[in-house]
Amino acid sequence: MQRLGLQGPLTPWAPGPGPGTVQVSSRTAQTDEKEALGYSNGVVVVTQGKMSGNQESGCLTFYVNGKKVTERDVDPETMLLPYLRKRMRLTGAKYGCGGGGCGACTVMLSRYQVHSRSVVHCAVNACLLPVCQLHGAAVTTVEGIGSTKTKLHPVQERIAKAHGSQCGFCTPGMVMSMYTLLRNKPQPTMEDITEALAGNLCRCTGYRPILDGYKTFCESSNCCQNSGAKSCSSGNSISENNSNCCQQNGKEPGRANGNEVTDDLENGHLKLFNIDNLLPLDPTQDLIFPPELIRMTESGLQATQTFRGERITWVSPVSLDEVVDLKSRHPEAPIVIGNTNIGLDIKFKGILHPFIISPTRVPDLFVVKNTPQGVSVGAGCSMSVVRAALEDLVRTLPLGQTEVHRALLQQLGNLAGQQIRNVATLGGNIVSAYPNSDLNPVLAAGNCRLTVVSKAGGRREIPMNKDFFVGFGKTLLNPDEIAVSVFIPISRKGEFVRAFRQAPRKENALATVNAGMRVRFHDGSSVVDELSIFYGGVGPCTVGASKTCQQIIGRPWGEEALTAAYPVLLEEILLPPSAPGGKVAFRRALTLNFLFKFFLQMQQKLAEMGIITDDLEQDMRSSLEALPNDFLPSYQEFQDVLEGQPGQDPVGRPMMHRSALSQATGEAVYCDDMPKTEGELFLSLVTSTKAHAKILNMDVSAALALPGVVDVITARDIPGKKFRMFCGMNEELLAEKEVTCVGQMVCAVVADTKPHAKRGAAAVKITYEDQPELVFTVEEAIEKKSFFEPLREIERGNVSEGFKMADHIHEGEIRIGGQEHFYMETQSMLVIPVGEEGEMNVYLSTQHPAMAQDSIAETLDIPSNRVTCHIKRIGGAFGGKVTKTTILACITAVAAWKTERSVRLVLERGEDMLITGARHPVLGQYKADVKYYANAGNTADESPLIVAKILLHFDNAYNIPNMRGRSAACKTNLPSNTAFRGFGVPQCMLVTESIINDVALKLGRPAEEIRELNMYRGSSLTHYKMPFDPENMLRCWEECKRRSSIQRRRGDIAQFNQHNRFKKRGLALVPIKYGIGFDIAFLNQAAALVHIFQDGSVLVNHGGAEMGQGIHTKMQQVASRELRIPTSLIHISETNTHMVPNTCPSAASFGTDANGMAVKDACETLYKRLEPIRKRNPEGPWQSWIKAAFLEKISLSATGYYRGHDLYMDWEKQEGQPYAYFTYGVCCCEVELDCLTGDYRTIRTDMVFDIGRSINPSIDIGQIEGAFTQGVGLYTMEELKFSPSGVLYTRGPGQYKIPAVCDVPLQFNIYLLRGTQNPHAIYSSKGIGEPALFLGSSVFFALKDAVAAARSDAGLSGPFEFHSPATPETACLACASHLTQMVPISKPGSFQPWAIETP
Ligand SMILES: Cc1cc2nc3c(=O)[nH]c(=O)nc-3n(C[C@H](O)[C@H](O)[C@H](O)COP(=O)(O)OP(=O)(O)OC[C@H]3O[C@@H](n4cnc5c(N)ncnc54)[C@H](O)[C@@H]3O)c2cc1C
Ligand code: FES
Ligand code: FES
Repeated sequence: MQRLGLQGPLTPWAPGPGPGTVQVSSRTAQTDEKEALGYSNGVVVVTQGKMSGNQESGCLTFYVNGKKVTERDVDPETMLLPYLRKRMRLTGAKYGCGGGGCGACTVMLSRYQVHSRSVVHCAVNACLLPVCQLHGAAVTTVEGIGSTKTKLHPVQERIAKAHGSQCGFCTPGMVMSMYTLLRNKPQPTMEDITEALAGNLCRCTGYRPILDGYKTFCESSNCCQNSGAKSCSSGNSISENNSNCCQQNGKEPGRANGNEVTDDLENGHLKLFNIDNLLPLDPTQDLIFPPELIRMTESGLQATQTFRGERITWVSPVSLDEVVDLKSRHPEAPIVIGNTNIGLDIKFKGILHPFIISPTRVPDLFVVKNTPQGVSVGAGCSMSVVRAALEDLVRTLPLGQTEVHRALLQQLGNLAGQQIRNVATLGGNIVSAYPNSDLNPVLAAGNCRLTVVSKAGGRREIPMNKDFFVGFGKTLLNPDEIAVSVFIPISRKGEFVRAFRQAPRKENALATVNAGMRVRFHDGSSVVDELSIFYGGVGPCTVGASKTCQQIIGRPWGEEALTAAYPVLLEEILLPPSAPGGKVAFRRALTLNFLFKFFLQMQQKLAEMGIITDDLEQDMRSSLEALPNDFLPSYQEFQDVLEGQPGQDPVGRPMMHRSALSQATGEAVYCDDMPKTEGELFLSLVTSTKAHAKILNMDVSAALALPGVVDVITARDIPGKKFRMFCGMNEELLAEKEVTCVGQMVCAVVADTKPHAKRGAAAVKITYEDQPELVFTVEEAIEKKSFFEPLREIERGNVSEGFKMADHIHEGEIRIGGQEHFYMETQSMLVIPVGEEGEMNVYLSTQHPAMAQDSIAETLDIPSNRVTCHIKRIGGAFGGKVTKTTILACITAVAAWKTERSVRLVLERGEDMLITGARHPVLGQYKADVKYYANAGNTADESPLIVAKILLHFDNAYNIPNMRGRSAACKTNLPSNTAFRGFGVPQCMLVTESIINDVALKLGRPAEEIRELNMYRGSSLTHYKMPFDPENMLRCWEECKRRSSIQRRRGDIAQFNQHNRFKKRGLALVPIKYGIGFDIAFLNQAAALVHIFQDGSVLVNHGGAEMGQGIHTKMQQVASRELRIPTSLIHISETNTHMVPNTCPSAASFGTDANGMAVKDACETLYKRLEPIRKRNPEGPWQSWIKAAFLEKISLSATGYYRGHDLYMDWEKQEGQPYAYFTYGVCCCEVELDCLTGDYRTIRTDMVFDIGRSINPSIDIGQIEGAFTQGVGLYTMEELKFSPSGVLYTRGPGQYKIPAVCDVPLQFNIYLLRGTQNPHAIYSSKGIGEPALFLGSSVFFALKDAVAAARSDAGLSGPFEFHSPATPETACLACASHLTQMVPISKPGSFQPWAIETP
């Protein structure tokens, strides 16, 4: 057997070889003409014999975490994720999106492959994997690799100890992606790691700590850090003087919840994460592949399996003949292997396929056959298999023969994430005929051919040319035809193929536009003999540009031919201005830019071959290079603890999130991980499909008649208050007479299962009468004066006088798009009626349990003392789990009250995005005033407070003598927006910084110079007359300039930009001054309750909700300091409204400030009570004091209370003290931009923050990095799109992109300012949850800086429009290259755009 060095998971499908003999052949570089089956680890396998055609009703045998599972008659609609979570009670894998887009559900799927006699391991998304496909497979979940009870697995330990788990909801998925990588490649490269994690999203951490934790697997610093072979437990001798060796120093790494603090020092300073004493990678810890499955697979006895569910019949045949026969009888039945398209259809589009053929065990579809003419790849091969096969051929065939192969590989490297590539098939991709399929344009340009077979037509070969794709989702295939294989020809002499792709995110995102281009030059000349160009993303299907090609064919490759081709291309690839998907000008520009790139590439090639003499100009060369991608070491610096601080005292020291290990092992319990209770029902919401309409009738009879449906809940069922009041305005829980946005909740269906509830909801028929006067945009709201009161205004100095003295007057505007919270855990709750005196136990994911408690009580018309809210932990919130969660909890409670049964509500990602609102889009206009118009949506929610906060922060760091701001919350017919990390500040400050940037552009000076000139200095007053000292802000500024060597780099950047025409670098230095605390005084209070038990263990209860920000860890540290005991004695179980009543929301970066003081107070009381005992027995131990205290009848339970600051804002007088203090920070970012695609990479980020004396630097740095990354998403990537009738298009990670691993700055340095104090908060710390989000704007302004350089090359100077988010579309178009300027722009108003502008 010849192993060609391919590693890694290749396919989860194992077409068993049947009873015939199996031979394993070694391949030659030239050709392998034998019939080859499967393709694994670079080995081609030959088989003979036929599959058995026995019929068998569905019986599955598979293993989960080493345990055998036998399932009969499983419903084909059952996916592995709910099966694991609900049926097997393995809740480690999480639901994040249900559509393959987030990776939270990642598990490892292993199969034995007879032909290679090896087991292949693949990371897969359990949410898209039908259980019917599991026969013969072994599934490993996060629970199967290690636990805190037994032994952690190093991948679990390292993500936790490196602080890579905050809310933890993404962590099991990350762990499993990394685990699978290590199973396939124990010593991965950094590239392997980033690739393995590309399909996993995290909304909290910013990914840097995850990468740092996992980087340890590819480093070789000492034996304990090493992976695999070099690890000290893997049999290598242990060096005698290696004191770090975990085997020698007596420590037992990673066994228990090791969250005790130890000082990890680096150059004498504390460091965040100690890479010593980590568990070594120990392959003996891994579960073995079940021998029974090997025997089962080797026996080759396979029979057709049929599974019949409630709505779908699923047939899994074992021979091609059978598939052909089935397809002839059921031509409408889809062929499902990967299920990455059909699965989404069924789940999200409600398309029902009553009959499904799943040929995962049909060998003919997995054959890879190499011939001298090219390679034939089975249509059933997964993308990973295709990739491995092509990589193998590229390694072995002469370079000139593999042009198509390499172009395909380029696309395959970017196609989706690993989990999707491991299951999605080549045939599925082709036949699905997505308009933006990455493979089809290359296959078409590359003269590839598809072999199909049917009963009626037999076998035929179809060229994948311009006629092949006939429309959206349609190809030339007849309904009864099955794609068997794709033939990829070797390339001929003088032939070159290239692929192009631009996507909203560099990885794991469907392309906006892609292309495949092939040229063949006349022998030894630059004259074009053949040219073939295909684009994706510019029409309903892959389209060819044959007229453009004709324009060039026959001419020498050069400027002249190209210049003639552009207008033809623009005419040929016509996108109407209202084309679905929008971005019309950008997409059209990309078609030109890709052709231009192809031109440059070929020009370089021809010069290399000596066919033409003019080599590519120096400044053009970088246009062909990829953006930088190599990570550099990142630094995190923070203050040491004060000299003399006892070693036991954890305050100020980095300490792992107290639940990180439980999160990494899947043991951490989130709301929907709670077991099903007796008789429990599931609730599904019915939402409005109209933006503004009267409800004429609601017919629920069809829903009630459906199986499993128990009841329909309407507003009439609410026993108490039917609305919630926010900011003095009522918001209906369920619409009764009128709806005012698409997505407004109208009624709810409860049923025995989630699918039944969903089907019930779909069956409710609501008759509407459309109302006129729709308002969607802020401009429409301004015109119609549609605002929520009060409008706010504030002025410093005298703006009118200021204008008279000004040298320049500049006016402009900036639009800032909204932002979806995209917490990884969707809104979840479980309401359990106790059955006595109206008591309700409510388990939910909220930042404001007291609000939920009081609201539920009012809704049910019962006293608050009957409702207990429990919050164990929240899988991310970011402001989105306050008001909206409260409303959802009230509705769920009504259902529980009415049915007298427990009711669970877990929103699907799409529902969550539709219903729960987002960050406010804001239009900022500036001239005499700065006017802020926030799109509030259909209800007030907290919008009036948000627009007020906007005016409190619009000065940012600047002492502008004359300034005036006005703000308004616009009432529109879009879903109601709500709080989001920063509460309006990220929007208002972007406007301020844009003004400064415009001034700089106007004056032709670096923006940082203008910023510095205008900063507050010395004892200062804000525009609302609050005194403060900006010294630390200025220190951050100076330190950031120094740390980032800004002066030198400005020079380097200028040089770079001078020498590169279409790659530009930009830099920005941006400050923030962020007020901490609530300007509504009562919200600053907090309480705690601390119990000491007789064994000395301590239970801390406080009002803060743990949502990843680490509040419980910090409270544990506070209690540890105050009681002088190790943190291991202190436990925090949950946030509970009966333990600590009347709590305030965990928000405004104020949770630790308030709750910390309350916990401190309680602990001080207790410690004081122990004083007489301590005096008698000063040496303790602690446990003996407690025992004695109990015997002496000293109460071991105490409440703590913190009254908080009396903050206020008097809007009449325009003055106040709305904040307790300010947190300061400065960030410097440098980006490199590809002006032809708008893609960019953040090369380096340096951030300096004054957060006082951090209680826990690892947690605070985590907050800074996570918030910054969320800010980068807000300002450069995340786009909410609404249709002209107010329907949200972007309802999942497929359409809405948040930053992923590929967006981490290549160097990411954080410095916490040293020598700072803060007398206004606990232990001199400062709040930090929100401030860093705005500093994501430094990437926005760095991009703008790069764009300005490109515009200067295009002869443009001065301020220009640059709206947020600065997506690739915005950046590319703003560069205004000669090609972009060719794209005709349709006059606004002359057409209806696909999406509306919400700000
Ligand atoms: C999260 C996510 C990200 C993605 N990103 C990308 C991307 O970046 N680029 C890209 O190009 N694609 C992307 N895709 C699309 C993905 O590549 C396709 O969904 C996949 O290739 C379809 O293959 P499948 O085996 O899963 O098809 P299935 O869902 O199993 O079937 C899809 C369709 O193809 C038909 N079909 C399948 N096999 C055959 C056959 N042998 N003969 C006849 N008909 C057949 C079926 O009848 C069905 O109609 C993404 C998908 C997801 C879910
Ligand atoms: S839940 Fe499966 S990928 Fe998101
Ligand atoms: S820790 Fe990754 S989503 Fe919260």
